[in-house]
This record gives sequence, C-alpha cells and structure tokens, in this order.
Amino acid sequence: MIALCYGTRPQVIKASVLRRALATLGPVYAIDTGQHYDYALNALLYEQLGVAPPDLFLEAGSASHAEQTATILTRAEAALSRLRPRVVVVIGDTNSTLGVALAAAKLRLPVVHVEAGLRAADRLMAEEINRRVVDAIATLLCTPCEAATRRMRAVHPDATVVESGDVARDVLESVRSRLPAPASVVPGLVSPYLFATLHRAELTDIPARLGAVVGALAVLDLPTILAVHPRTRAALAALGLDAERQGALRLVPAVGYLESLALARGAAAVVTDSGGLQREAYWLGTPCVTVRGETEWEETVALGANLLMPPEAAAAELAGAVRSQITRWQGRAPWNRTVYGEGHAAEKVTSAIAAMP
Ligand code: UD1
Repeated sequence: MIALCYGTRPQVIKASVLRRALATLGPVYAIDTGQHYDYALNALLYEQLGVAPPDLFLEAGSASHAEQTATILTRAEAALSRLRPRVVVVIGDTNSTLGVALAAAKLRLPVVHVEAGLRAADRLMAEEINRRVVDAIATLLCTPCEAATRRMRAVHPDATVVESGDVARDVLESVRSRLPAPASVVPGLVSPYLFATLHRAELTDIPARLGAVVGALAVLDLPTILAVHPRTRAALAALGLDAERQGALRLVPAVGYLESLALARGAAAVVTDSGGLQREAYWLGTPCVTVRGETEWEETVALGANLLMPPEAAAAELAGAVRSQITRWQGRAPWNRTVYGEGHAAEKVTSAIAAMP
C-alpha cells in the first residue's frame, strides 16, 4: 500500500492526479490532514476534480504552527503505524508536509517528497523550514525543474533524485478545456481586467504591508478582482478594508480551482504572492507580477513571464510593474512553457516509486 498525504488547497489539487497515477501500482490510501477545511479550499476541489473522498481525515484544522504541526504529527503517526504503507508520499512545503513526513521518517517508512528541491533565501520562512527538513529526511526526491534537481544532487547525495516536472501542470492540462468564462465567475466582469490573490503570512500578518498593497491595487488603471483567502479576509477586516468595492478593486470570496484558472487565463495580468498562481499564469500565457522580494519559481522570472515587486514598494511602482508586464507581452509570442515539464509529472513520480527497492 502507498499512503498519499496532503491537507491544503494546492495539495488537494496536486493529489488528484497523483492518486490516479499511483493507483496503477496497487492500493493507495489517501490521508487528508484537514489543515484546510473551508468549502472553497477543500471539499469543492474534490468535487471539481472528481476525486474520491480521502480514506482518512485527520481534522487538524487551524492553530499555531507548533500546535497544528504537532496535531498532524501525532495523528499521522497513529495512522501510519497502523497501516505500515510501503512508502509515504508528501507534497510541497506546508505544515501538513512536515508533520506527515516527520511521523513517517520516525517510523522508518520511506518518504517520497513531491516538489522537492525548491529554495528561498529567507531560511526562517515557515515554508522554507518545512521544505528543508522534508528534503533532508526523504528517500526519494521528485523535483519540478533542473535547478532543484542539481541542488538536491549536491545537498542530498544519499537520496534518489528524479526530475519529474510539476504535478500542478498535469492537473491544469487535465482541466484546460473545461474552464468557465470569466464573466460567469464574477458577474459583470469585462476585459481587460487584472486578477489578484494575496495570502502569505509575510504579507497578511503585517497590517501596514497588507494595507499598502491593497491600497495600490485599488488605484490601478484596470479593474482588479481580488479573490480573498480566509486568512486575508480576517486581516482585511481588522484594517477596515473588507468593503466589496474599493476604487478599481473588487473583493470576491476565495474561488474554486477551475474559477481561479479561468480568471487567470482571461486576465491582462495576474498580481499574486501565491507560488501556484505564478506557475499557472506562466502556463496559461498571462503575465504575472509577484508581490514578494523573491520566488522559488525563479525560471518564470528569467523568462520574463513573472516580475518581482516587494510588498513594501510604493503604489506607483506596483502600477508601473503591472503596466510594463502587460505592454511587454502584448501581441508577442508566448514564452517557453516547459521549464517545469510538460504535464507528465505524476507518471514520472509513479515510475520512480515503482523502481524503489
Ligand atoms: C498554508 C501553507 C502555505 C500554502 C497555503 C495554500 C503552511 C505553513 N502554510 O497557508 O504554504 O501556500 O496553505 O493555500 O502550511 N483558514 C480558514 N479556513 C481554512 C484554512 C485556514 O479560515 O480552511 C484561516 C485560519 O484563520 C487559519 C489561517 O487561515 O488560521 C491560516 O491557515 P493555515 O493553514 O495555517 O495557513 P495558510 O495561510 O492557509
């Protein structure tokens, strides 16, 4: 048996293709930690992607980092010691990834890390801590791109490193033909418009920063749709910035996976701090401005598809970055879209697991 473990919105999405591919090797036991539980962040994705419910739901929910990780660690240990799977597959860099991987490694179960080898300069960012620890204790490291592969071969010579490409691309390609029209997602929406999301703790937990970025979005030249993650909703409410309309900005609740892709595809540009949306914009051919000082997805920046803009930048600078991304790519041939593979990552992860001793 293979245990496939996940718990946040992007992981539910990526697990959908992994679950199908891994099933060709035998029984797959799906464990959802429950780190995300709101409908739009969890159950809706199961429905949209046609995924069976998990075999086990750990109901970890929200808490401080220590408490959330500890709950996942303890509950995953209980489940994994009962199941004794052949391997434990974890994805990405969340507290769910860390908690499950740590429980598995302590039980001496081989850990497979999907999306291994990414790095940011900020060593103490929550996701950076998680991914470094998980890379260090995994037996099989499946990387999304060349730079991650090189890094893992240099840092973890004892692990098996396989460049699988990015499973997020597999999922996107599987739904590309059935994306809804943007105006059916946000009634009254007309092109050109911008699509924005903001959710990272580095932004939402610093009120002055969040206020400045939202203020900047409200004065952009184009109407901007901001799909609001629940944590951002709470932070905006505390700032008194949760009105549905603010200048050019319109706030809508967090949207489903298909709706998010549809809005990103139809947009003149995307403004985000999400790693997932940065790649999705790149695959969909929509220029992106990332509201961070750095990105783990540096290839998108090198290609020009993505432009970094630190959140402390002035509103005029953010507006300038958005304008320059739109002008730069208008009517131009799209960039090379294959730096994170071509949509066969889940198959490659599966073959690599099949080859494990
Ligand atoms: C988590 C991941 C982040 C990932 C993101 C994807 C960690 C440390 N962070 O961030 O890497 O990019 O998921 O979306 O694991 N909340 C709800 N409903 C929910 C879930 C959360 O309202 O269903 C609220 C709660 O107030 C909670 C806060 O959001 O305290 C933060 O949730 P949490 O799971 O800790 O982190 P995310 O910001 O979602």
